[in-house]
Amino acid sequence: MEKIKFDFNNMMSDFLGKHGISEEDIKNIMPNIHSAHKAMLDKRSNGKMDWRDLPYNQSEIVKDIIDYAESVKNDFEAFIVLGIGGSALGPMAVQQAINSPYYNELPRDKRNGFPKFYVMDNVDPEKLSYFFDVIGVENCLFNCISKSGSTSETMSQFMIIKEMLSAKLTKQEVAKHIVCTTDKVNGNLIKIAKEEGYKTFIIPSGVGGRFSELTPVGLLPAAMCGVDIKKMLDGAAFMDKICSNDDIYQNPAYMYAVLSYIAMNKGKNIAVMMPYADSLKLVSDWFAQLWAESLGKKYNNDKKEVFVGQTPVKALGVTDQHSQVQLYTEGPFDKMIVILGVDKFRREMEIPKIYEDIPSLGFLGGITQSKLIKTEQMATEYALYKSKKMNLTITLSEVNEFTLGELLYMFEVATGFAGELLEINAFDQPGVEEGKNATYAMFGRPGYDEKKKELDSRPEKKDKYII
Ligand code: PA5
Repeated sequence: MEKIKFDFNNMMSDFLGKHGISEEDIKNIMPNIHSAHKAMLDKRSNGKMDWRDLPYNQSEIVKDIIDYAESVKNDFEAFIVLGIGGSALGPMAVQQAINSPYYNELPRDKRNGFPKFYVMDNVDPEKLSYFFDVIGVENCLFNCISKSGSTSETMSQFMIIKEMLSAKLTKQEVAKHIVCTTDKVNGNLIKIAKEEGYKTFIIPSGVGGRFSELTPVGLLPAAMCGVDIKKMLDGAAFMDKICSNDDIYQNPAYMYAVLSYIAMNKGKNIAVMMPYADSLKLVSDWFAQLWAESLGKKYNNDKKEVFVGQTPVKALGVTDQHSQVQLYTEGPFDKMIVILGVDKFRREMEIPKIYEDIPSLGFLGGITQSKLIKTEQMATEYALYKSKKMNLTITLSEVNEFTLGELLYMFEVATGFAGELLEINAFDQPGVEEGKNATYAMFGRPGYDEKKKELDSRPEKKDKYII
């Protein structure tokens, strides 16, 4: 089994002195760790963490997804996800991790016959509109993904494409171009899908948006671009066993949460994630949502104001060595840096032995690019250690479906466990709802009159502060 390696040496005071975490610090919170573990077990057995069962209980769904993907893949030039947040970030991260960075430019046979892959998450009119300069709407299969079935961004995109399709195709033909992923009963999308006869995949009701990558939210888009979704789930199941261990020294997810929790208590309120592999770049985006939306909370479980959370920052190695690393090494002691590394890259490029007479270039000759990127990763780790900045390294033996399943699942458990340590609800998002509701009120959506009044009663902006 290709187990992920979790190296937290450089978080510890043995290496960072007073800027690190001591084993004593960990011992001191053992009672909290035990209660958090108990809460995780209770929630899992009480059906409040249904995402933990996803690696095990989806064999029929997986078969349905694979059969569907096989049956439609040749009919379309492009597969387009319409979704946002938890309904978009996972699909983007997985396709980028597994496939060629130039996937859409490859000839179809090199995509194993699968269509091109796009995600439309933002409601920027330029993005959607320019897309149709490239591919006609009638050549696309649209996967509308929304747990709530009412998110304005996703539903507005759905309305636009539905109308565009209807202008060109019959009702029966339109139905073949739309597949919905949504809740079984709640929301508008399921009702529309049933009435209009769209193929539908269900998001289990107990699984929230940002924890839904291993449901059809992520599995269908992944299968539609040739990703082996069974292997992804196998990787998650493998990690689930590891993450069920109550010994935090054997459980990387728990340890990740414990270290982050202590780091937060020591004022490290920023968590930088820096993959040293382009394929993992969007894993940082996916993780940023998971960590920020789950842990950024005003109230704890006793409804006391706590204002907790750790700001996720996305970086890329080595690219950001040439922009942000200066700040990470010499700036304030307010962050921890999480490096994602890869042991074996799937392709290799050798740097030729030329310019041997120029010392500043000659030393590069004969080494591989993977050697160069990994050496630079180790060098950054060293620079961070030397400047006593907390950092840890998570290494994948190789980026593949199994290790990716492990990684995503590990971060989900880490997030749930961190929520328990912080004694907050990691599974709600009242701050996001506030913005959604304010949008509805501004548009005068029925039922939002009170919210509209509340908005209208805010102080008028002053001209003198607008220059
Ligand atoms: O994690 C979450 O709950 C959110 O980020 C949602 O995924 C996001 O708001 C999209 O919601 P929905 O899938 O209901 O359209």
